[in-house]
Amino acid sequence: MVKLSGDFIFRLKSICDITSIVSNYVELKNSGRTKKCCCPFHSEKTPSFVVFEDTQSFYCFGCSVGGDVISFIEKIENLDYLGSVKYLAKYAGLELPNEDVQYEDSKKKERILNINREAARYYFNNIRNPENKQTLAYLLNKRLLKKSTIVKFGLGLALPGWHNLKLYLKNKGFSYNEMLEADLVLKSKNGNYYDKFRNRLIFPIIDIKGDVVGFGGRVLNEVDSPKYINSADSLVFKKKLGLFGLNFAKNSSFNGFVVCEGYMDVVSLFQHGFNMAVASLGTAISREQVRLLCRYRKNIFLAYDMDSAGRMASNRADILFNEVGVTPKILNLNDAKDPDEYINRFGAASFKLAINNAYSSERLKLKSIIEKYNIADVDEKKQYIDEYCATLADIKDPVKRDVYMSGFCASLKIDKYVISNYVKYLINRKSKINKKKYDSGVIVNIIKNRKENDGVPNKFVRAQEGIIRYLYYNPDSFLAISSVLDEKYFNVIWCKTVYNFLVKLIISKEYIDIAAFHKVLDFNGISRLCKILNNKNIYNNSLDEVKDFIKILRMEYEKKAEDISTMTLEEIEKARREKAELKR
Ligand code: UTP
Ligand code: MN
Repeated sequence: MVKLSGDFIFRLKSICDITSIVSNYVELKNSGRTKKCCCPFHSEKTPSFVVFEDTQSFYCFGCSVGGDVISFIEKIENLDYLGSVKYLAKYAGLELPNEDVQYEDSKKKERILNINREAARYYFNNIRNPENKQTLAYLLNKRLLKKSTIVKFGLGLALPGWHNLKLYLKNKGFSYNEMLEADLVLKSKNGNYYDKFRNRLIFPIIDIKGDVVGFGGRVLNEVDSPKYINSADSLVFKKKLGLFGLNFAKNSSFNGFVVCEGYMDVVSLFQHGFNMAVASLGTAISREQVRLLCRYRKNIFLAYDMDSAGRMASNRADILFNEVGVTPKILNLNDAKDPDEYINRFGAASFKLAINNAYSSERLKLKSIIEKYNIADVDEKKQYIDEYCATLADIKDPVKRDVYMSGFCASLKIDKYVISNYVKYLINRKSKINKKKYDSGVIVNIIKNRKENDGVPNKFVRAQEGIIRYLYYNPDSFLAISSVLDEKYFNVIWCKTVYNFLVKLIISKEYIDIAAFHKVLDFNGISRLCKILNNKNIYNNSLDEVKDFIKILRMEYEKKAEDISTMTLEEIEKARREKAELKR
């Protein structure tokens, strides 16, 4: 784990005020003593994301994510704890105290990145080697790539044998274990190591910091399968978090991204000047990737394959972008299976046209409805109106809905008042159905919560949380509290952990701050702690009330201790001894 001195974190947090940091990402509105906005971590229309200046923390009552300024940066910038501290230190203009940083992972990460860089260099040199000229010929003649494109993307070749890269890296001083961690070699049942990528074209995956984080490998022999293999997630590589080509595309002067499915699509589009192309990494696009892209630019063009799998993937991507309030446009690449084939067959000007003529999914849907019906026929006309209105009801933006509606009514010469009422009716009906869905979701959550609290009834959970909250703000009452409170009264493991850690902080006179809890709690744990610390309505403040909480817990503990029907003999004996102790 990370060891950064409390002093340094304190200085950092006193400069990085939570309100000003959060305001760099979202627009906060005053709401009493707190500030509010729509949550940047889940999609919502009414703000449930609250920033508490007094505790320098945030909590979302919609998705239960919370934390301090360090957690906020962790989550929104996709960083780990140390990464977030570094990020804020840079923002604050503070030097990281070097001797204090003991991050076992960071050294290992560095090693894996070094291995990856060496491997990429090795694969790339293979392509330039005249012995392998058939691979270069494949790229130049079959895939129509220029040499400069191959160099720009550092495309490479993994030779057919089992031990090529392995021996090369061994020579460079890397251990098999390190190669295994980088997912460049695999280990057989007999404990032998061998190259993961064999006889494949190699696409190095470079992240936005410029590091080679992983590889995609395409078959060179078309009968081999699977067609592509990709690096597994590792310390330095998270498929869900990166995009192929983003290291270049983020610097494009084009105001948007073209999102494709394949590595080859990105490479081809770049070669033709479309330097804003990206692709997800061997998987369907994820929420995280969608957010990452939208952080840079919000004009999104989906250029997915034109087969049914591609259409499905495109729909899914469309939904994910909609969730963050972005409406992508969908390219129609007629007579080609993917952007690579399209641009090689029809040229850059055609592709540019496809971008300009791209429609949003809702517009495409409305267009296809128009084309489906013969409105000279009265029955078909009625069906047409029904289907069109149902689609209008799905459009969330009221202005857009109205624009479509006006055009529709004018084309059919129907009174807009009639259609508008009908659509309103459909929207209401839908929101009722959605509400039902939402209610059952809440129930699921409550059940889950119950399990999370080790099956302990709410009353006792609240008592334990209340004690933690009080002690956090009033560490000076520690003596008064600890004289009547015993650690064993805590029967929710999470609460017990937090309580014990808090006591440790108090006893060792450390600075008490949410940041300290990063040592014992994961992200969800920090979220929960922030919820408790900020919940003034549920938990009371006076020492008397805390003493009541303690009493409730003690009584419950004693009652449990008396319930001997389920105990072993030793437990009964132990309980007896403890009870005798309590009475003293
Ligand atoms: P495609 O099959 O469309 O490949 O898969 P492509 O990129 O167009 O390659 P060419 O043009 O046939 O050479 C699209 C993407 O899906 C992932 C890869 O990321 C690929 O680029 N994929 C595909 C896999 O991860 N595994 C597979 O077996 C196939
Ligand atoms: Mn292709």
